[in-house]
Amino acid sequence: MTQRVAFVSGAGRGIGRAIALAIADGGYAVAVGDMREPESRETIALIEKAGGKAIFVPLDVANSASVLAAVARTTAELGPIDVLVNNAGWDELKPFIQTDEAFWQKVIDINYFGTLRMIHAVLPGMTERKWGRIISISSDAARVGSSFEAVYSGAKGAVISFTKTLAREVARKSVTANCVCPGPTRTPGFESVIDPTNAKLLESMVKGVPLGRLGEPEDIGAAVAFLASERAGYITGQTLSVSGGLTMA
Ligand SMILES: NC(=O)c1ccc[n+]([C@@H]2O[C@H](COP(=O)([O-])OP(=O)(O)OC[C@H]3O[C@@H](n4cnc5c(N)ncnc54)[C@H](O)[C@@H]3O)[C@@H](O)[C@H]2O)c1
Repeated sequence: MTQRVAFVSGAGRGIGRAIALAIADGGYAVAVGDMREPESRETIALIEKAGGKAIFVPLDVANSASVLAAVARTTAELGPIDVLVNNAGWDELKPFIQTDEAFWQKVIDINYFGTLRMIHAVLPGMTERKWGRIISISSDAARVGSSFEAVYSGAKGAVISFTKTLAREVARKSVTANCVCPGPTRTPGFESVIDPTNAKLLESMVKGVPLGRLGEPEDIGAAVAFLASERAGYITGQTLSVSGGLTMA
């Protein structure tokens, strides 16, 4: 049997890197799609060291031509994409009142339209082959709100609503679509907005987490690898928080 293929956007670092490693560990050949080539090469080295197979694919999810080129390149080098993980995301913390339309557009373009572009490019192949797994990384911010992340929360909420309808549309083709919502998770992106040396702030964040610690990228990777697996074939349209119990709805 030929090796199944997974595409992970934003897999150069942080949560995306941990997802790529976990999925490769599950036996998939992985396309590491990202704008950051050196970091992506590090992800690939880690996958190869663990005995897996991975390639780098340049990707900007905010650019349709880049998305189409990335999907074509993955298909040519590894084969058709069986698993798509929409992980690439971006935000800057500021009160809504201080944001402008250019900011809204950037946040929505990367976090929501980026997900639509990737799915639109990959879905026809999945439905044709009657097998597929789509996992989109949303956020607990979409489920319960998060101060200074209003537009981002809206975009991530859109990813959840979209996924539920998509799941209904493609279920009869044996394609599943689910969302995973991290809570605060230690990544380079997180540490660029939350000062990792600010013990008081970190302590107050941990206080709200029943399991008593912040998330690690590997916590998210494990959940995504399960949803990407053959075993998760009866799960679709779901939203799974991986946040130490921070949200329980
Ligand atoms: N870290 C958290 O606390 C947290 C919480 C909830 C949700 N999330 C979500 O998890 C995902 C990963 O977050 P992270 O903390 O690992 O972020 P990160 O900033 O550490 O890593 C994000 C990766 O995505 C890539 N990327 C960004 N924009 C891109 C684009 N336009 N095209 C292609 N690649 C792009 C970056 O180059 C980077 O390698 C994001 O969708 C984020 O919104 C993170």
